[in-house]
Amino acid sequence: MIRVEVPRDFSETLNRGSVAKRCYPWDVNVIDWSAPIDDEHEYMPSGFSFLHGSELEPRLSLKERSFLTRWEFTCLMRNQTQGEHILNQALLGVLYHIDPYDPAYRYMLHEVAEECQHMSMFNDWVRLNSDIRTRGLGQDQLGTAVSVLTPVIATRFPALLWTLTFLFEVFGDQMARRAASDPNKRLHPIVRQLMKAHVIEEARHVAFAREWLVRLLETMRPASRRALARVTETTLATILRLNFPFVPLFYSAQIRPLVSRRAFRRALQSPHRRELLQRQVGGAVAVLREIGVVRERTLRRWDRSGRLPLDRVDRHALD
Ligand SMILES: [Fe+2]
Ligand SMILES: [Fe+2]
Repeated sequence: MIRVEVPRDFSETLNRGSVAKRCYPWDVNVIDWSAPIDDEHEYMPSGFSFLHGSELEPRLSLKERSFLTRWEFTCLMRNQTQGEHILNQALLGVLYHIDPYDPAYRYMLHEVAEECQHMSMFNDWVRLNSDIRTRGLGQDQLGTAVSVLTPVIATRFPALLWTLTFLFEVFGDQMARRAASDPNKRLHPIVRQLMKAHVIEEARHVAFAREWLVRLLETMRPASRRALARVTETTLATILRLNFPFVPLFYSAQIRPLVSRRAFRRALQSPHRRELLQRQVGGAVAVLREIGVVRERTLRRWDRSGRLPLDRVDRHALD
């Protein structure tokens, strides 16, 4: 049996939230799927495309930028679907072992249902753009290994599950919030609406993961807390070192006429991209620092080495 750490009244509040504030992606006032896909729009939120800040960007016409950002958004949606699938496997794995009389049981089912809806709206986007050939995490050895291991990690080490869940959700949330309030008039309406629908439900998921983690940390022995800090910091340091976000983007021959593999790699390693990732990690780390998962001395070390300057450890850095 896995003990639920979230207070019952907190779970009940989230349960009420899941009923009152939900986004059904096939309500026309949530997403108008009839908006045509064309080459007059852009498809990635400002600052989040691999093109932004790269040497490629000024050379491209609107039509080319439109295609490339649509390719990128569609690939990311494919991989985000796989990421949410893995998260659902973990949540259902834990659910099997918790007390069904605790309101968290129902809340976790709400969360899985919401994630399934996110998966299906992302999948609708992927199928709507069937001219884009995506390559997903499911075809990737790393993705397959993660999907097999996650339910095991989730049930054996819930503290690690909630930390990783928190990181995954915060990363997705940052891009979604930018899309929802992006001043770029060319951003395609479906992209904006889809991301907005995601933001509203993710806020609850982030709150639940954070709450479980905070309460669990209070009960953990110092040695276990140190182990959690070490694993979390190593994960974050690897993401920063490789400049590799949670939802990966793989090169495809489909964009070769516009972007060579070398130019793609260079764009992913551009200073703009590095700074974006530092701000994304910094937003999540700001909260993990408050909770006590990431240690001050590690942050000082990262600041000295330039891996993560302290002024980027700010939860509102991307607002
Ligand atoms: Fe989601
Ligand atoms: Fe979520």
